[in-house]
Amino acid sequence: MESLATDGVVPSGSRTNLAVIGAGYVGLPTAAVLAKFGHFVTVAENDPKRFKTLHEGRSPHFEDGLEALLNEVLQQGNLVFVESASAAVNDAKIIFICVPTPQSDDGATDLSYLIEAATSMAPHLRAGAIVVIKSTVPVGTTQRLHDLMGRPDVSVASNPEFLRTGTAVAESLHPKRIVVGAEDSDVALRVASLFEKSNAPVVITNCATAETIKYAANAFLAVRLSFSNEMSRFCEQVGADIVDLLQGLGYDHRIGFSYMQPGPGWGGSCLPKDIASLIAMSRPYDLDFTLLESAVTTNDAQLDHVVKRILSQVGTITKPVVGLWGLTFKAGTDDRRNSPAVRVAQRLLFSQVTVRAYDPTVTSGNDDDLHGIEIVNNAYSAAQGASLVVLLTEWPEFCELDWNKVASVMAEPSIFDTRSILNRDALRQASLQYSSIGTA
Ligand SMILES: NC(=O)c1ccc[n+]([C@@H]2O[C@H](COP(=O)([O-])OP(=O)(O)OC[C@H]3O[C@@H](n4cnc5c(N)ncnc54)[C@H](O)[C@@H]3O)[C@@H](O)[C@H]2O)c1
Repeated sequence: MESLATDGVVPSGSRTNLAVIGAGYVGLPTAAVLAKFGHFVTVAENDPKRFKTLHEGRSPHFEDGLEALLNEVLQQGNLVFVESASAAVNDAKIIFICVPTPQSDDGATDLSYLIEAATSMAPHLRAGAIVVIKSTVPVGTTQRLHDLMGRPDVSVASNPEFLRTGTAVAESLHPKRIVVGAEDSDVALRVASLFEKSNAPVVITNCATAETIKYAANAFLAVRLSFSNEMSRFCEQVGADIVDLLQGLGYDHRIGFSYMQPGPGWGGSCLPKDIASLIAMSRPYDLDFTLLESAVTTNDAQLDHVVKRILSQVGTITKPVVGLWGLTFKAGTDDRRNSPAVRVAQRLLFSQVTVRAYDPTVTSGNDDDLHGIEIVNNAYSAAQGASLVVLLTEWPEFCELDWNKVASVMAEPSIFDTRSILNRDALRQASLQYSSIGTA
């Protein structure tokens, strides 16, 4: 099928009965926004704890504006929750699958959640329904799922999701684009029409292209971040300043500012697994994805570099204490999956450093990934008695601290800002030693 950018010109979408399978970081904002657009949405969530939370009108995860939107559409009667995919789909004309597609131990994408959701709902689908995969899946999966469901009277489509946690609601209400892949353009247009109130440009294409667009987008973002990190290490060697350098690049519209920030490395639930998946997918075709392999190597090197810099500052101290600000993989989310901040904490623990951490979304250290970390409930407590505080997640509240107070509670008044967000002059005025990534 020819790729067609329709600039939002799709058939007018009336109120449609929809189903969304999986109420996680993608499924819940998707369902809430489709309900806000006026559709009737039945959401299936099979985790009993999450289902109970949703049933009480609360979001199981932290996302700005999500709970308010959820309550709005629940009150309007546009959204209901059920506990299984099979119970959600009876009346649905279009069904969005938003279940996890994690990386398995051998690096391949684990499609078991997707297959389970699709096969369990298959006998209950109405004739003519469209099953849309929003989960990120290896190229070819949408077609394969069709065969697996054994329902030739049902269509399949791919509608990859580009939202970012932290701004998921705003981005779902106003997406930069809607991509729909299907082998039948009528099917694609029917899916795209659901989003017409977003006024987003629409790209209609075949399933393989839609699936590939998602991987290509994340690959490109990872390359930009790795480039920024590689440049930051170069800056440290030659006496340049990465913040000024990225300003100097970003005003050039061909380059821009987005995803051009130094940091402790990229992580989260998507970039690492999607990049690994794209590299794995290219192997059977003898395509060496050297660029992406290098982006991954650079990312690992950046984390090593951050840990090395921390240890070089505290390594000579007996029983050093390091305070960490931030544990999530970025600000605005409670998501710690593949978080560089957690990886830094674990590496420090391994080097016998006492780690005391504060993150606004973390209230206890009970989860496995936080084992050994002393969790405290504010930034000052994390700095208490520390020889170094390392800012790892760019939460805005870290920019508004009382620097004299921070300096007064630390054993050695020294801050390492891996996100380059703090006002270095303000810190220095409070006699705090300031260092960051990408400055000599
Ligand atoms: N998190 C992101 O920022 C993001 C962005 C774009 C795309 N994606 C992709 O979207 C997909 C979902 O990611 P996520 O972060 O929302 O995952 P998630 O783990 O937050 O949510 C998935 C939800 O699906 C539920 N679930 C699993 N199987 C189910 C079933 N059979 N019936 C009902 N519920 C079921 C789980 O209990 C969970 O609540 C993945 O493929 C991911 O790669 C994620």
